[in-house]
Amino acid sequence: MKTKTPKESYAISTHLVLPNETNLLGNLMGGRLLHWMDITAAIAAHRHSQRVVVTASVNHVSFERAIKLGDYVTIEAKVSRAFNTSMEVFLDVTVETGFTGERVKSNDATYVFVAVDQVGRPIEVPQLTPETPLEKERYDTALTRRQLSLLLSGKVKPDAVPELRDLLLGKNK
Ligand SMILES: CC(C)(COP(=O)(O)OP(=O)(O)OC[C@H]1O[C@@H](n2cnc3c(N)ncnc32)[C@H](O)[C@@H]1OP(=O)(O)O)[C@@H](O)C(=O)NCCC(=O)NCCS
Repeated sequence: MKTKTPKESYAISTHLVLPNETNLLGNLMGGRLLHWMDITAAIAAHRHSQRVVVTASVNHVSFERAIKLGDYVTIEAKVSRAFNTSMEVFLDVTVETGFTGERVKSNDATYVFVAVDQVGRPIEVPQLTPETPLEKERYDTALTRRQLSLLLSGKVKPDAVPELRDLLLGKNK
């Protein structure tokens, strides 16, 4: 299977924050952002695998600043690492304020997708070759995020990843 690059999976979406998507403070609700990120990341995972993909895990999302009514939210997604049937997708979110046009980074996130066949069974995906320094860094660190995700979901036993188990138990100090 042909190896692919992160830029081949690149997906971008831009959204205007409307009144029915905000809370009583006029801030975008987190669930709406998660939904937008899920769709943008799924497009990236599909571009990489050319298969039906399902969300297996939402691994890291931090909301570092409030996104306000009237802001433009831009979500950029690229596959950061492919394993056997699963892919990590890294998302970068920026916000442009409707009034000043200032663009700032809002947050990032990682989602895991699994490529599946017609009956929902996991199926192999192409490997990924990172190109830029940032892509290489994200590729290298994806393995630890995967181990942590599998540990937290109960899919691997803590003894299988002793370095993370000790980290969680505060034993590595
Ligand atoms: C995701 C799904 C296909 C995995 O199927 P499964 O039978 O558990 O298959 P496996 O255990 O072999 O896992 C398949 C891959 O997913 C990875 N995976 C599964 N859960 C994971 C998690 N929580 N974090 C990271 N990777 C995960 C496995 O490591 C494996 O990766 P690899 O093949 O690259 O090594 C299955 O659980 C599913 O269909 N879930 C529902 C998906 C869905 O509907 N999402 C939308 C939610 S509303």
